[in-house]
Amino acid sequence: MARKKIIAGNWKMNMTPSEAVKLVAELEPLVKNDAVDVVYCVPAIDIVPVVEAVKGSNVQVGAENMYFEESGAYTGEISAAMLVDAGVKYVIIGHSERRDYFKEDDALLNKKVKKAIASGLTPILCCGESLEQREMGVTMDWIRFQIKSDLVDVTADQVKDIVIAYEPIWAIGTGKTATTEQAEEVCKGIRECIAQMYDQATADAVRIQYGGSVNAGNAAELFAQPNIDGGLVGGASLKADFGKIVCY
Ligand code: PGA
Repeated sequence: MARKKIIAGNWKMNMTPSEAVKLVAELEPLVKNDAVDVVYCVPAIDIVPVVEAVKGSNVQVGAENMYFEESGAYTGEISAAMLVDAGVKYVIIGHSERRDYFKEDDALLNKKVKKAIASGLTPILCCGESLEQREMGVTMDWIRFQIKSDLVDVTADQVKDIVIAYEPIWAIGTGKTATTEQAEEVCKGIRECIAQMYDQATADAVRIQYGGSVNAGNAAELFAQPNIDGGLVGGASLKADFGKIVCY
């Protein structure tokens, strides 16, 4: 069965709640494409108004982060149960900005992935190499390491339903997109890694996005690659262009 493409916006730390509601209304007529899954991953404080604002549309809401503990004394954190209760379906885990600026390591991310799945959320698990790693020729080794570490104790049945986002760090927010060949090569490598860790059916089912300076001009070519099942879109998800990406 063909994999349904999934195109997710990652709003990062942008949009106040009132701006968020306006953006949802502006994008609403532009992002109608039932052939793909459309997700807005929004800042925590925007979740409640955005869930309300997308009601009746084809858009689902994701969070940009969560904590793995059930509840308790973790000041400032947000639990999976809170996200689910608010109507969230997806959660980005392990974005390179979380890994770099907030020192989230693979052991922590593995706990988050497992908690998200156990709570009924779909993780969008991010991986990707730095420019240095690419130049050293260790891209695929690094990504295999990330995937294997982040998916410890996650079963094949669970992996089938998650989303993996390949985001080369050097392409994020830089306007420097990976070439279609580079993006396809790594997404294919991730699928092979999943086949090795689990089995071919699991690898064939898992959806793998490309992220890193996706825009209205390059989306169609990227999404036409056999192993690229959509995109995780930062900057271009905050404007009307996102409609062009969704209806590529
Ligand atoms: P960008 O961000 O599209 O602005 O490069 C992508 C991301 O970080 O998810």
